[in-house]
Amino acid sequence: EDGDYIKLCKEYDYLIETIPKGNGWNVKHLYKYNGFWLNPIGIKANLLLHAYFKSHPTDIFLASFMKSGTTWLKALMISTINRHRYNFTDHHLHHHGPQSTFPSIDIEFQSYPITDFMHISAPRLFATHLPRTLLPPSVTSCKFIYICRDPKDVLVSKWFFMNKIRDTDLPPLSFDEAFDLFCQGISDFGPFWEHVLSYWRASLDAPDKILFLKYEEVKEQPEAVVRKLATFMGEPFTAEEDEQRVAENIVNMCSFENLSNLEVNKTGVFNIGIGKVGNREFFRKGKIGDWKNYMTEEMKQRIDGITHEKLKGSGLAF
Ligand code: A3P
Repeated sequence: EDGDYIKLCKEYDYLIETIPKGNGWNVKHLYKYNGFWLNPIGIKANLLLHAYFKSHPTDIFLASFMKSGTTWLKALMISTINRHRYNFTDHHLHHHGPQSTFPSIDIEFQSYPITDFMHISAPRLFATHLPRTLLPPSVTSCKFIYICRDPKDVLVSKWFFMNKIRDTDLPPLSFDEAFDLFCQGISDFGPFWEHVLSYWRASLDAPDKILFLKYEEVKEQPEAVVRKLATFMGEPFTAEEDEQRVAENIVNMCSFENLSNLEVNKTGVFNIGIGKVGNREFFRKGKIGDWKNYMTEEMKQRIDGITHEKLKGSGLAF
C-alpha cells in the first residue's frame, strides 16, 4: 500500500486521540480541528484533500455553511453555466437531484484512493462546506461563490436535517441541545460565525475572486443573482439571451416549488459518503424566518447577541 497514505492514517489516529471533542449532531462526536468542528470522517477527508487534490486555476467552487442554500445554488450554477447545452423543456435538472450535479470535495475525499476529476471539462465546478482556512492553499486562488444565511434559519434547518440522518443508535437531538451546541460553535463546520467571516474577509480582499451571496438576497432578487453568477463565472448574458428571457427561465426552473415537485427530488437518493439520504430532505420549506416557529424570544436574543458581537466591525450583518 501507498506509504504516504499509511502515514496519513497514523496522523488521523493521533488527531482523534488528542484534539478536543464535543457532542455531535448526527454522529456521537465532533472534533475541533484547526479551530473548526468536524466529524471524524470529515477530518480524514480534510487530510486526504490536502494530500491529493489537484486544483486547476479555472475551477470554480461553491462554498457554504450547511443549510445555507447549497442545493439551490448548485441548481442555479449548473443551469447558468450549461445554459447552451440544455433546453428548459427537457433539462438535466429534471432527472438529477441538484446535489449530484457537481462533486462535493468534502464527500469525495472520504475514502482512498481518491477520484482525480481529470475527466471534467473546464471550468470544473466543486462544492465544499469547509471554512476558507481549512482549504488547501492551492485552491484559494480559484474563484469562489459563497452563500450564507441568517444563522437562526440555518440552525433550524440543520436541526431538522441532522435528525433525519442521525445514527439510529443515538436518541433524537432535542432542539434545546442543538441550539446550545450551535451557540457554542459546536456544529459541523462550525462555529458558524467564523465560517462566514473566513469568506467575507477574503471577499473584501479579492471581490473578483469571491462572490459573496446571502440566501435572503437570492430570495428577493433571484434574477439579479443569476446575472451576477453568469458574469462571475465568465459568461454574462447576451442581448439575445435577454430577449429569450433565459435568466428568468433559470430562476423558474430552480425555484423551490418547481424542484421540490420533480419526481427525482421526491424519490431519488443522494450519496453523502457516510450513507444515502433522500433528495427530498434537501427541500423542507425554503422560507425566510421559519426560526420564529421554533425559538423563544430569549433564544432569539441570545443568538442575535452572539451574531452582533462576532460580526461587529466586519461590515457584515444578518
Ligand atoms: P429549510 O430547511 O429552511 O427549508 P442546503 O441546500 O445548504 O442543505 O440548505 C437547505 C435549505 O435550503 C433548506 O431550508 C431547503 O428547504 C432550502 N432550499 C432548497 N432548495 C431551495 C430552493 N430551490 N429555493 C429556496 N430554498 C431552497
